[in-house]
Amino acid sequence: MVVQLTGVQFSYERDCQKQLLDIAHWGVKRGERILIHGPSGAGKTTLLHIMSGLLTCTRGEVSVMDQRLDQMSVQQRDQFRANNIGCVFQRFNLIPYLNAIDNIGLAHSFSAGGSGQWRDEATALLSALMIDRGDWAKPASNLSMGQQQRVAIARALINSPALLIADEPTSSLDSDNRDNFLSLLMELIGKRDMTLIFVSHDMALAEHFTRLEALSEITQRPG
Ligand SMILES: Nc1ncnc2c1ncn2[C@@H]1O[C@H](COP(=O)(O)OP(=O)(O)OP(=O)(O)O)[C@@H](O)[C@H]1O
Ligand SMILES: [Mg+2]
Repeated sequence: MVVQLTGVQFSYERDCQKQLLDIAHWGVKRGERILIHGPSGAGKTTLLHIMSGLLTCTRGEVSVMDQRLDQMSVQQRDQFRANNIGCVFQRFNLIPYLNAIDNIGLAHSFSAGGSGQWRDEATALLSALMIDRGDWAKPASNLSMGQQQRVAIARALINSPALLIADEPTSSLDSDNRDNFLSLLMELIGKRDMTLIFVSHDMALAEHFTRLEALSEITQRPG
């Protein structure tokens, strides 16, 4: 299993009776492409943050590639994420004053492995994601939202992670571009034999995925 959650509970509030997330069992197999959907505020981003080790659950076991994230220190989780998980967050978290290549290079520098040829890989990814060469040297803050989303995807793929976690990465694309982007992303993922967990409220994207999951079916919500 790439991801396995067992008895996971999470609440942002201390002493909270009602958990935001309460997951008895949930797992992701290698090669799956999962679309998680659900209403705003339901806890989708929170769940992704738990699976990527940015948040720790109050209770339960979180395994990614058979490693227990809940038993790791913050530093161990950060290193594990850099080596194994590509993350594209809802706010893309690009460094605004660095250009596309340097944003990708920074992600590469955090990982233990990776090839020395990262710059060639970065430019290949930017080309594959159809970012014009003329835009590669611009600070990220000067790129359009759609371009920033694609740079964020390139950054997430640079270390060839086994798992890609993406939070609404298509929200600022129009429907034509959204479909093209998804096809492109699936091609890149297929070539790298990666597993994908993707959050979106846009069910029109469903055909690109092997499994659809409503957050309300993953988590039990009391009363
Ligand atoms: N850092 C935080 N501290 C306290 N509460 C938070 C925090 N982050 C999120 N929440 C709350 O937790 C709930 C779930 O938030 P989350 O961001 O996971 O929802 P979401 O399903 O991703 O929503 P959206 O579709 O709008 O992105 C919301 O009620 C939100 O207000
Ligand atoms: Mg969210």
